[in-house]
Amino acid sequence: MGETLADDDTTIAGLVAAADAALATGAASGGSESRREAEALVAAALQIGRATLLAHPERRVSDPQHARVRDWLVRRARGEPLAYLTGVREFWSLTFRVTPDVLVPRPETEDVVARALALGDELQARSGATPAVVDLGTGSGCIALAIAHERPAWRVTATDASPAALRVARGNAHSLELVHVEFVEGRWYAPLAGRRFDLIVSNPPYVAANDTALDDPALRHEPRMALTPEGDGYAALRHIIEDAPHYLRAGGCLVLEHGARQGSDVSRMLETRGFRHVRCAPDLAGRDRVTSAQWPPITAGLP
Ligand SMILES: C[S@@+](CC[C@H](N)C(=O)[O-])C[C@H]1O[C@@H](n2cnc3c(N)ncnc32)[C@H](O)[C@@H]1O
Repeated sequence: MGETLADDDTTIAGLVAAADAALATGAASGGSESRREAEALVAAALQIGRATLLAHPERRVSDPQHARVRDWLVRRARGEPLAYLTGVREFWSLTFRVTPDVLVPRPETEDVVARALALGDELQARSGATPAVVDLGTGSGCIALAIAHERPAWRVTATDASPAALRVARGNAHSLELVHVEFVEGRWYAPLAGRRFDLIVSNPPYVAANDTALDDPALRHEPRMALTPEGDGYAALRHIIEDAPHYLRAGGCLVLEHGARQGSDVSRMLETRGFRHVRCAPDLAGRDRVTSAQWPPITAGLP
C-alpha cells in the first residue's frame, strides 16, 4: 500500500490523492471513508488542521513529511488504527489523546454519554442534589470526561484496572481542563468500597474470547483486556450488574454499553437482579448497544 505513494506527490493535493488511492485499495479502510481518512492522515502528518489542508492544496510537502505519510500508510495497511498513528481521536466533539494502552473511543459510545446525561438530569430534577457518577473501565476517559464537560457541577469518578490507561485518561482530563474528575485504579468496584453513586456507567469488555472479530487486524492492535473479559464475553457485564446495587443510591441508574446481540441477555440479567425501568434503545444504526436501568425504590418511569 505505502509503496504506491509516488515520490512526486510533493503537494498537499497530490499527497492526499495518493493517500486516498492507497487507502481505498487497502484492507484497513476503503470506500467513501478513504478520502476523509486520507485528509486526516495527511493533516496530522503535516501537523496542520483540516481547514488549512483544504485551503492550501498547492502547498509543497517536505521530504520528512512525505516519508511520515508513507510510513503511516504502511502501518495503516497492517490494520493499525488511524487514531494510534495520529495520537488523537474526536469523541463528543472533544479531542482525546489515545495510545495503544487504550481502546480507541467509538462513535456508538456517545449513546452512553447521552443516556447518562438524560438520566442524571432527571434524577437531579427530582432530588435537587448534584449527581455523583462513576465510569467503570474508563480507558481514554472519554465517557467520564464528556459527562464532566457537559455537566461541570456533577461529581465524576473514573476507574480502570490498567495504570497505563489511567495515565492517558488523566492526561486527557488535564488537556481538556477537567481536572476535577477523580481517577482511581482498580478492578471494577474494588477501589470504591463504601461509596454510593447516582449513576454508574460503563463500556466494559464484552467480546467473547472465541469471537472471530478479535482476529480483525484493527482490533489486534487494541488492548485485549479492553475488548474481551475472555470466556463467553459476559463476565464483566455480569459482575457490574450483580454488584451495582451495593454502589448505587436508591433510585440511582446503571447505563451499560454491550454487544449488538447482547441486549436481551443484559436486560434479563438486570431484571433478574431486581432493576426496574430496564430500557434498551436502538442506536442510529438500529442496533441495541446501550441498556439502562434503575435501582428501586423510585416507581415512576424515567425518560
Ligand atoms: C471497552 S474498554 C472502554 C474504554 C472507554 N470507556 C471507552 O468507552 O472507550 C474497557 C475498559 O475496561 C478496562 N478494564 C478491563 N478489565 C477491567 C477490570 N477488571 N476492572 C476495571 N477495568 C477494567 C480496560 O482497561 C478498558 O479501559
